[in-house]
Amino acid sequence: KEEGGSKSSGEEYTAENPLVIKFSHVTAIDSVKGQAADKFAELVNEKTEGKVKVEVYPSSQLYGDNDELDALVSGNVHMIAPSVTKMVKIDPRWQYVDMPFLFKDDAHVQKFFESEVAQSLMNSDKLAANDIKGMAFWPNGFKHFSNNKKPLVNVEDFKGLKFRAQAGQVLEAQFETLGAGSATIAFGETYAALQQGTVDGAENPYNNFDTMKFYEVQKYLSTSAHGRLDYAIFVNKSFWESIPADLLTKVEEALTEATTFAQQLAADENAKSLENIKASGVVEVHEMTQEERDALKEALQPVYEEFGETITPELIEGIEALQ
Ligand code: LMR
Repeated sequence: KEEGGSKSSGEEYTAENPLVIKFSHVTAIDSVKGQAADKFAELVNEKTEGKVKVEVYPSSQLYGDNDELDALVSGNVHMIAPSVTKMVKIDPRWQYVDMPFLFKDDAHVQKFFESEVAQSLMNSDKLAANDIKGMAFWPNGFKHFSNNKKPLVNVEDFKGLKFRAQAGQVLEAQFETLGAGSATIAFGETYAALQQGTVDGAENPYNNFDTMKFYEVQKYLSTSAHGRLDYAIFVNKSFWESIPADLLTKVEEALTEATTFAQQLAADENAKSLENIKASGVVEVHEMTQEERDALKEALQPVYEEFGETITPELIEGIEALQ
């Protein structure tokens, strides 16, 4: 029996002949995202008694972040968890995450994930038009600047340095406003770019810095917490809707539990990673004072003037109102 385009029963699938969900991501297995993706796979296996198998491809091994979105749209992978700014190609509002000092703390970010403004991004027609369905937000953490040339303490210290950026005009403007240059480089190629001096610096949550071993190729890190790096889970809509209803219920239950797992994991893993970075003994960590952060925040105000309309006042003010 067919129901709304999807098969009503998953009887044809067995542990020997499972339905396969391909899940591609770019970070290390032991990263926040890597651990949560594996947790999701484990929960799906348990709940469906092996009838659905989530194949997780970490570390850009299947697709890097230049092509994972295209791979999702074409159905070559079924599920991705990109850093949300990578969605700029589909909807520029996802760059909300890059707006300097927009989020106060982790609790503020969590409130946003549960808010109507966040749902307005997830439910946007732009995703559906690309056969994408937005499923959930997963946190990582605040980004911090690092580089190889000098300690970053004051705004002037950024002048003339070149940083790796993820994607999009907001990050480009952020660096330009600080008098620095930037280059868009795929996450999987960032270690080599730092090592070879293609760029001097980067901005990462502690956990990405740690699990990618960027401490091997960076000398200075400042605890700037100037922006966020968070994820959203996206699936190929046609594929998702073709999953038999009884199995889909269990898969979505697993995703809800994996989301809670990611939320509980992120802050702790980032705190542990900061300790690892300090213990590595090879990176000079500058703990930024509130005054130094305030000076950065003020210097970065022009980014709001330039991009406030693109990100939309509804979204920016909506996020600010959740503090
Ligand atoms: C990045 O490019 O820095 C991020 O996409 C990495 C991540 O955490 O996915």
